[in-house]
Amino acid sequence: MHILVITGSAHTNGTSFCLADHFTKGAKEAGHSVSRFDAALKKVHPCTGCDSCRETGRGCVFKDDMEELNRLLLDADAVAFVSPIYYYGMNAQIKTVIDRFYANNSLLKGAEKKAVLLLTYGDETDESAEGAVASYKGMVTYLEWEDAGIVSARGCYVLDDIIHTDYPRQAYELGRGIES
Ligand SMILES: Cc1cc2nc3c(=O)[nH]c(=O)nc-3n(C[C@H](O)[C@H](O)[C@H](O)COP(=O)(O)O)c2cc1C
Repeated sequence: MHILVITGSAHTNGTSFCLADHFTKGAKEAGHSVSRFDAALKKVHPCTGCDSCRETGRGCVFKDDMEELNRLLLDADAVAFVSPIYYYGMNAQIKTVIDRFYANNSLLKGAEKKAVLLLTYGDETDESAEGAVASYKGMVTYLEWEDAGIVSARGCYVLDDIIHTDYPRQAYELGRGIES
């Protein structure tokens, strides 16, 4: 199966990239092919809700790195969303990408895909992640995809905090266990 990993953080040596890397390692060891889109390192304009995509049928008016992601997205059997928590939600870079799914709603909705969510955040309670988890679950339900699992890594501000926890192993197992 082909798995697409979408990350949100700009920290290439941070906590969420650590989970993305472990998830990818597990998925590859299980024989899956994995592609990756690091949203913070790409140029993706926010959706302005102009509805041109729906009115003209010619896709989004913004011709940017989302075109690269769209090809990967339509091809993927599973999508991993990997984000740090910023102010009780997924960060802006990954949310910008998700909003741009809108131009391809008709192709994405009802497509046979799985999804996973990997989150990292500093707080010691789950409260900080509740908004992101609700947003992810709502999106997956709307798109009629299947939620294949969530890793919610609390108490992790920086890489040093996460590498000695069980979360990287959980991300690895999630990647290794994902099935078509
Ligand atoms: C702008 C900003 C907002 C944040 N908001 C929260 C928050 O609401 N709750 C929390 O627990 N941690 C919050 N954090 C901490 C990050 O989630 C945490 O440092 C995370 O591990 C960063 O992931 P990264 O290393 O992959 O970038 C915030 C960090 C930043 C920079």
